Amino acid sequence: MEKYLINPNQKISKINKDIYGHFSEHLGRCIYEGLYVGEDSPIPNVNGMRKDVVEALKEMGIPVLRWPGGCFADEYHWKDGIGAKEDRKKMINTHWGGVIEDNSFGTHEFFELCSQLGCDAYVNGNVGSGTVQEMSEWVEYMTFDGVSPLAEQRRANGSEEPFTVKYFGVGNENWGCGGHMLPEFYADQYRNYETFIRDYDGNKRIYRIACGANAFDFNWTDVMMKKACSRMNGLSLHYYTVPHDWGKKGKALEFTEEEYYITVEKAYKIEELVRRHGDIMNRYDPEKRVGMIVDEWGTWYDVEEGTNPGFLYQQNTMRDAVVAGLTLNVFNKYSDRVKMANIAQTVNVLQAVALTDGEDMLLTPTYYIFKMYKDHQENMLLGSYITTPDISEKETLPKLIESASIKEDGTIVATIVNTSLDESSEIKCQIADFKVKGIDAEILTGPMDAHNSFENKNAVKTKIFDGYKVTADGFETTVPPCSIVKFVIK
Ligand code: AHR
Repeated sequence: MEKYLINPNQKISKINKDIYGHFSEHLGRCIYEGLYVGEDSPIPNVNGMRKDVVEALKEMGIPVLRWPGGCFADEYHWKDGIGAKEDRKKMINTHWGGVIEDNSFGTHEFFELCSQLGCDAYVNGNVGSGTVQEMSEWVEYMTFDGVSPLAEQRRANGSEEPFTVKYFGVGNENWGCGGHMLPEFYADQYRNYETFIRDYDGNKRIYRIACGANAFDFNWTDVMMKKACSRMNGLSLHYYTVPHDWGKKGKALEFTEEEYYITVEKAYKIEELVRRHGDIMNRYDPEKRVGMIVDEWGTWYDVEEGTNPGFLYQQNTMRDAVVAGLTLNVFNKYSDRVKMANIAQTVNVLQAVALTDGEDMLLTPTYYIFKMYKDHQENMLLGSYITTPDISEKETLPKLIESASIKEDGTIVATIVNTSLDESSEIKCQIADFKVKGIDAEILTGPMDAHNSFENKNAVKTKIFDGYKVTADGFETTVPPCSIVKFVIK
């Protein structure tokens, strides 16, 4: 029997709700069709935003949305996306399928979407092909509430009040698609661009995010912290779980048990990444003022057969749910440093929480993890520890991965992932100085390739879990293989 210890007396750090954030890029069918269908669409919408997706995302508890990219951000020119739609300049989306972008979804539409979702806005600026002036003017256009030509233009375009930009990203992947810069050069660029992001009256101070490292590029983090730490609020980190290699990544639906374990083991590398990038940040910022912002993460497979290779459309199974569950547990554990994370990407792209087919929509197993875990949002992370065997040959994949937090009213939330495909785990949980009055538990489980399709949308869904017994100081439970369980303990 495994031992699970939770200490409600050890409150470690607040789990910022934005750890449960999402990312939406002008890529494939994420924005167009996935989120925005236009006012004249037969698909039910409010001001062009599709109702079914907005409702589902609200229900899931989406706290923040990143836009407009990704690679797209560094070729996006915001002025092309404002004013009368028929006059908006068209462009080629060179990164993603070479399709024509008509700019019908622009700044005002993004803030309309955020307002319908009730979430905060994370806008990503263009360093790669933009200018300091262009970025500075975008911030003024969005957030200045005084009298200026740009603020007047915003008003003329229908928004009397300034928008609230909570987070602003200064470029994206500037080590790659955002300009192939070296860290020293980008650090200087960052300092220059950031200087002209003004905090206007009436808008709260904008949280500035510098472009951070790709996966294991620890030197990038070191250089950025050394050269620009004092001028940033957050530093990003991107990590995608690719089962094989970038050429032949592996399929989303058809995969072997071996490929399951390869994927989950690679996903768990996020723990090492957050820890090691965090260690570097600690050297320059021991007070943990600068947030680690994991603004792109998730699984990346070969696109579904017959779909545009540039659209990155993939299905989503229990394997993805396990990846999401363990990753969010890791972010909770490091919530003293990780202040936001944005899974890629909200709808129809990569590890999406919703897929659409015309007017039809389904929710993926990953969706149910976010909905299940929303109970952690804004809680205090608790000290917790679980004994667990390691189930990979290289000893880099624990069978059980957990996190526990406490709400202001004293309710404890614990989420446990069992990564094994064939073995359940008997667990005895003890909670220090705590008298359990009652427990509500939920589970998401199924065969590794279980998924929701347009023919069967409810194959994978959260269910009430009653496989536990309350004890004097906690509970005993058996967690089935390939499952994610949440205990809400009063
Ligand atoms: O999410 C897809 C792409 O992955 C993003 O545009 C880019 O930032 C990353 O390489």
